[in-house]
Amino acid sequence: MNNNWILTVKTYNREKRASMEPVFSLGNGYMCSRGFFDEEQDGLLSLGGIYMAGIFGLARYTPWKGKGRELVNTPNFYSTKIFADNEAVTVDEEKISDFQIQLDMKTPKLNRSYVWTSSNGNKLRLEFERFISGSDLHTAGQKICITPIGCAPTIRIEVGINADVTNLNLVSSEPLPVQPGVKHLNLVYQDTNCILAEIRGYEDVAIAEGQKVSFKTPHNAEGLIHSTSNDCRHIFEYRGIENKCCEIEKIVYVYTSKDGEKDPLFRVKKLLEAEACYQEKLKEHKAAWNKRWEVSDIVVEGSEEDQISIRYNILQLIQSCPEHNSKLSIGARGLTGEMYEGCIFWDTEIFMLPFFTFTNPKAAQNLLKFRYHTLPEARKHAERNWFKGAMYPWQASEKGIEQTPLGVGAYYSIHIVADIAYSIMEYWNATRDEEFITEAGAEILIETARFWESRVHKNPFSGKYDILAVRGPNEYGVIVNNNLYTNMMAQQNLILAKAIIQLMKEKYSAEWEQLKDKIGFRDEEISRWDDIIENITLCYNAELDLYEEDDMYLSRVPLDMKKAKPTAKRIIDTTIPYEGLMLYQVTKQADVLHLMKNLHWRFTHQQKVNAWEYYVPKTCFDSSLAYSIHAVMAAQIGLHEEAYNYFKICANFDIRNVLLNTVSGLHFANFGGTWQAVVFGFAGLQVDEDHIKISPRLPNAWNSISFHIWYRGNLLKISVSKESTEVFLKKSNGKAICLKASNTEFILDESNNYTKLSMNGDQ
Ligand code: BGC
Repeated sequence: MNNNWILTVKTYNREKRASMEPVFSLGNGYMCSRGFFDEEQDGLLSLGGIYMAGIFGLARYTPWKGKGRELVNTPNFYSTKIFADNEAVTVDEEKISDFQIQLDMKTPKLNRSYVWTSSNGNKLRLEFERFISGSDLHTAGQKICITPIGCAPTIRIEVGINADVTNLNLVSSEPLPVQPGVKHLNLVYQDTNCILAEIRGYEDVAIAEGQKVSFKTPHNAEGLIHSTSNDCRHIFEYRGIENKCCEIEKIVYVYTSKDGEKDPLFRVKKLLEAEACYQEKLKEHKAAWNKRWEVSDIVVEGSEEDQISIRYNILQLIQSCPEHNSKLSIGARGLTGEMYEGCIFWDTEIFMLPFFTFTNPKAAQNLLKFRYHTLPEARKHAERNWFKGAMYPWQASEKGIEQTPLGVGAYYSIHIVADIAYSIMEYWNATRDEEFITEAGAEILIETARFWESRVHKNPFSGKYDILAVRGPNEYGVIVNNNLYTNMMAQQNLILAKAIIQLMKEKYSAEWEQLKDKIGFRDEEISRWDDIIENITLCYNAELDLYEEDDMYLSRVPLDMKKAKPTAKRIIDTTIPYEGLMLYQVTKQADVLHLMKNLHWRFTHQQKVNAWEYYVPKTCFDSSLAYSIHAVMAAQIGLHEEAYNYFKICANFDIRNVLLNTVSGLHFANFGGTWQAVVFGFAGLQVDEDHIKISPRLPNAWNSISFHIWYRGNLLKISVSKESTEVFLKKSNGKAICLKASNTEFILDESNNYTKLSMNGDQ
């Protein structure tokens, strides 16, 4: 296999293992396993780490509304124990050599191996393989291979499903460990091959799991004894033969009461009755992934390391997406950790959604539908807070309920409302998905616009509309007035709502009549929106030609960044308490620059450069969301080296554990941001009202990149090199596409489906 599909780690450090586990996560949007070690016997590291989309248990914290809940660490179906001459195999540095862990991203599967030496000097080579099926949401596989090296010990292997696990409750800093997590699972049934565990308190959920285990050996393992135990274990004991391997293969089935199954255990038992072959299941899984990669892959020539990390970011995005269920979305840490309790933030729409929009529009539609399903809850939230329309929660549960604890800032972090509206329009521009826009999108756009109408406040002195008491993307502003990002995105929300009403009236009048009645819309609302659009406060310093982050930023105390952030640790965890930050000119992550990325057409090149020069030195990059936006903006304003440096950080963010908190889960916004850095930054892809624009600015280290995008029902392959840009229309929706590259405009359609443009503009 080509190495640039494989992420390999060869060093082993037991202390750092928990931080490495999320990096090697596998998943299919329904369930996800962290890269924990199958054979771990005791302590925190033996608790596994398998999370399932939409499976929550009651948590100890109190959110703003409703019950506090958290993702549940579900039964560990990879649970294994291995003994040689009665000595337990434990993965301690002093006992192992030749360690290697590999994530094969093409398949995808996880392979891990090492040589273990027992206290009497016997050596075993151990190899582990696992996958979570990409072709069947309810299936996973595990393979273990044990080879005695120059010895013949008695080997005992136990494989089972262990429901006796608690949550990991890993805090977001090193060193470990932590306080014990909640035990959510109550075992109600088990036999040799199945378990049924229940979760109660938040919602009642039953999880059934079953295993089909087979022992394979190329020779007759001497004196093999296969026993089973009622606590869902298979035990194999035999005399190992020098240099001969024995293999255990296991297929796992998982169903829950939330899968529309009255009796998930019955379903699992039925599945276990049928023949199943590990290799066959693996083959089906691989075939399903081949299809996904055909469209989602980005091929980079010039740097193997970058190729691997780009694929890694894409892999994790796909693995986390609950494509099967539009009532779920992707949490900030996906299903790879317990941080943020599986809640959904702006991370999904602003960072991850573009990847799905352009590579799997159906999945993107599902993610947006999640916001439609939760619109009623957003309406209630607005009403309870004396506002109109829909106030989407900052930290949403799967039911759309605000999960941020009351008093921790969700009241202010309202840019999420405009972010959702903005992303709907971006999706519409890229897809022209009429069904979604008429049935769901338009309603969200109008309800969010109504929220802003009620949230702005007309300043009695200036006559302008202010948005007071907010927290912008720069959370280190704590509470500010007139955060530029919030105000301009709110203004854009109103503009978009107007545009969608116009479109509905012109093109979808029957649907519009229905919607108008449903939400009681009156045309006078538009004149109020016009007044706000015209007169909203947008902080700008004319002398410096500088957009201001909020109405006080320029007057705050300059911060000595070296003193405030002497290490990689976040300022709030080390030098300045949260409430102290508002004293200073300090930006946690891109704010004005992020706005300039979103609404790029509203700023001049010089204004972007000015903002870059002013804000970057004041930015402390205390969020995983910071780097990718800087990479895109640097590329767009021609700072090639900076763009590449920021890209390097975001592309390897979790692999290198940059913020030292990967232990609590991978950073999914950053994965989406990395894709944007490559496609929007380096390839310079932009989709406007009536055309696609490509303005490549490849890093020096790269010779070329190529990738696919879906654009309004057309599938395009775009290849960019230092010399030329090639666009190939692989599937057409029958309508011509207008493309702009290197200042040249051209049309692609079925009869003229390929174009090659040299960088000097010749076709
Ligand atoms: C960031 C937010 C982000 C959240 C979840 C915070 O540290 O500042 O912008 O939404 O993490 O990823």
